[in-house]
Amino acid sequence: MKVDVLLKDITEMKVDAVVNAANRLLTGGGGVDGAIHRAAGEGLNKACARLGGCETGDAKITKGFKLPAKYIIHTVGPIWKGGGSNEETQLKNCYLSSLSEAVLNGVKSIAFPAISCGAYGFPHERAAAIAVNTVMGFLKRNDDIEKVYFVLVDENLFKIYCAALYDYEVNNA
Ligand code: APR
Repeated sequence: MKVDVLLKDITEMKVDAVVNAANRLLTGGGGVDGAIHRAAGEGLNKACARLGGCETGDAKITKGFKLPAKYIIHTVGPIWKGGGSNEETQLKNCYLSSLSEAVLNGVKSIAFPAISCGAYGFPHERAAAIAVNTVMGFLKRNDDIEKVYFVLVDENLFKIYCAALYDYEVNNA
């Protein structure tokens, strides 16, 4: 399987790149962003300060610093505002721009958190379907990435992602 769903802290992932659910200033925050900044150390704050922020749906890359991962790809998910503000397309773009940035940097294995599923309030089932469908679609078109992990710390979200992957496989068998 090219894609796995794991119940795990993403900062422990030994992959080429972990994706961070960042904010537009790339200043670090709570949630997975806070966990990644704490684990990566001060070097990450300095590197992020040089990037000039990041638009919603875009992605920027830094080294992994003290993480086991070689790189961190910072993407900014949409804040859920009820669904009428292009949130679904923006979330899809987070996955696509992170994967493009990964390919540009020779990344073969990548781990995604549940972008926008915490502080940004995106409905979980919809977010999981977008994550799985976008990544699977990309992998069909592109051979560069060998392994993708969806890494969740919340057991309920873990089940939702497993169900989304199962649905994708049933619908695309
Ligand atoms: N590993 C994996 N997943 C984690 C971890 C971790 N160590 N810590 C938290 N998460 C999960 C949360 O349980 C949630 O399901 O990451 C998911 C995304 O939640 P947030 O981190 O709140 O991200 P998001 O909803 O995209 O909001 C981004 O939060 O901290 C700020 O700077 C960040 O302003 C930005 C906003």
